[in-house]
Amino acid sequence: MKNIGLSYDDILLIPNYSEIKSRLNVDLTSRLTQNINFKLPFISANMDTITEYRMAKKLDEYGALGIIHRFCSIEKECKIIEKLKKEGVKKRAASIGVSGENQQRLKALVKAGANIICIDVAHGHHKLMSDTLQYCQNYDIEVIAGNIATQKAAEFLCENGADCLKVGIGPGSMCTTRINTGFGVPQITALEEIIKVTKKCGLPVIADGGIKNSGDVAKALAVGADSVMIGSLFAGTKETPGMIHKEGNFPNYKLYKRYRGSASLDSKLERGSEKRNVEGISTTVDYKGPVKYVIQNLEDGLRSAFSYGGACSIDEFHDNVSYIKLFSKEVQS
Ligand code: XMP
Repeated sequence: MKNIGLSYDDILLIPNYSEIKSRLNVDLTSRLTQNINFKLPFISANMDTITEYRMAKKLDEYGALGIIHRFCSIEKECKIIEKLKKEGVKKRAASIGVSGENQQRLKALVKAGANIICIDVAHGHHKLMSDTLQYCQNYDIEVIAGNIATQKAAEFLCENGADCLKVGIGPGSMCTTRINTGFGVPQITALEEIIKVTKKCGLPVIADGGIKNSGDVAKALAVGADSVMIGSLFAGTKETPGMIHKEGNFPNYKLYKRYRGSASLDSKLERGSEKRNVEGISTTVDYKGPVKYVIQNLEDGLRSAFSYGGACSIDEFHDNVSYIKLFSKEVQS
């Protein structure tokens, strides 16, 4: 591990010679796993204020992906998957954890029609993860495993049968892991470390957490990620679960929705969990209207980035784009 860690705000991408006549000529198709591609490399976070049926359905229409969260009953998660299957969604992604009733959840989800399973834990370099990966081998599914932030963890997941690695320990906007535990790896460095391993084993990588704009998506892809997972940018849109709240009266009113960390006190209390090991916060975000506007902005920004990078495809972007490090005053002094 390098002893200087870089995150999105610590770098900028360097422009390249380009022959791209129209940004529409850029092909953003990427790999989710070695067997599954998607047209737009955006994944909505498997959080209970981000992805249920409506978000997954809408993202599928755009060629992106929504992963259903696991913070609900097995029945509810299965019903969402069944509904996605009935309207013809082909990539049906659901989440499980690594303990409790998770074998039961996995079995029920596969029966309901899930064909992509995300093993979703805060610390994926763990014995319980390898046990879970092992029993996933009994099913005909593609398995996303995470989260991780080191080369050793990537080797561990590759050796134990993962089909895609999810990277991010602490970069999320709702995350307090770094504050509560002192652990974490800045996201650009975490991705670079893991990509050293995946270049050899061929597994795709999802950069999860901390994406604030399309520039961050471009930076994640430039260092080798195949796609990004997004929570806060999608928070507050029409397709997220939860009510739209109104504050104030006409004409001075504000509409908002809730966004909360999966390990926040708010979320834990609602699930009936203990009020302990809180590693996330909750907040309100302005209501943003349909998610299509967020997707279009991200896509437009990314197409523009490919033009600056002189790249027509994700592979070319991976190969051709490099970055320059920025040092803040704090680092220099
Ligand atoms: P953004 O920055 O897009 O990040 O809002 C979404 C990602 O944050 C992670 N996540 C959490 N991390 N405590 C954490 O340490 C939490 O309570 C929490 N909730 C979500 C998760 O990886 C998600 O995709």
